[in-house]
Amino acid sequence: VKKTVPFYGGQELRRVYERMRREGYAFIASNIAEPNILMGLLGGAQESRADLLLQISHGAMTFAGIGDAWAGLRALWHYIRELSAQYDIGVFLNLDHQQAKHLDLLERAIAERIPSSIMIDASHEPFEENVRITRHVVELAKPAGILVEGELGIIKGAEDEIVSDEAFYTDPDDAVEFVERTGVDLLAISIGTQHGVSKGRQLELRLDIAQRVDDALKAAGYDVPLVVHGSSGLSTEQLRQLIRCGVCKINRDTFYQYVYARTAYDFYRQHHDGIVPPEGVAFDPETFESAGGDWTPNKRAFDPRAVGKEIQRAVSDALVKFNREIGSAGKSLFI
Ligand code: 13P
Ligand code: ZN
Repeated sequence: VKKTVPFYGGQELRRVYERMRREGYAFIASNIAEPNILMGLLGGAQESRADLLLQISHGAMTFAGIGDAWAGLRALWHYIRELSAQYDIGVFLNLDHQQAKHLDLLERAIAERIPSSIMIDASHEPFEENVRITRHVVELAKPAGILVEGELGIIKGAEDEIVSDEAFYTDPDDAVEFVERTGVDLLAISIGTQHGVSKGRQLELRLDIAQRVDDALKAAGYDVPLVVHGSSGLSTEQLRQLIRCGVCKINRDTFYQYVYARTAYDFYRQHHDGIVPPEGVAFDPETFESAGGDWTPNKRAFDPRAVGKEIQRAVSDALVKFNREIGSAGKSLFI
């Protein structure tokens, strides 16, 4: 039976977060920029019977739209809509690390009800400016039923245009004031993770800060799912520790990028002889003629669908494993 709704909006997403907070599991919020990782994630989530949260950064939109972020967002959105109709799990779309300078794109995305949630990242701004920008996005998104994630504290590392040298941890009292004044549905906190390639074992994860933020928010009457960015490199045990402190959204991007590259690399290396002519043979891909020896490439090695299927399988297996290990398998609200 095919779903009538291709994928879900903020109100269904809110119900998923409520259950996550009650039962202690989380999304591995997974970034996409192209189809193979998307297809792998859909398959993996379905296999886990877990709901799926996809996210797209401004850089990913720009890539997918050949320089036009709005076109890229719409193209990926249509792709996700069509594919997710084939699955019965809940599929959600978050716009990741959106910046105030792209507010016009956000307004159009909200008007067309494209995302389930939006992360507005003004964490590099002074507190008051962060509050002002974030509250403005909440005011735009709320009437459309779209959830908003704000960020307080600065996360080290480089991703898109967000670069910061110093890690600034989130202050629990500021977190309460921030949630109160902005009305955000989710709060991204800085507790020592980094965007990009960072070894979990070398990070000092400040779980105490996550716990204090969660406690302070609860004491003030707010039940706000926490978000941790830069989770690539964290161990399963570290992910479980985050969930115990109230984290419901664990952002992962770099991990999939490595899996993609490594799977493609291994596949091409394994099929080297079907792609690269032997020493001394010159091959002309226009005419398929070879000089200096008879050689023909192998379509089973170079067809992008061949490597694509391997990448999809690897991504799918990884998500199945994560969902099992963090208790999210079998938890879909929709099947
Ligand atoms: P990583 O690339 O370090 O996994 O971080 C992803 C992220 O935070 C996306 O917002
Ligand atoms: Zn991030």
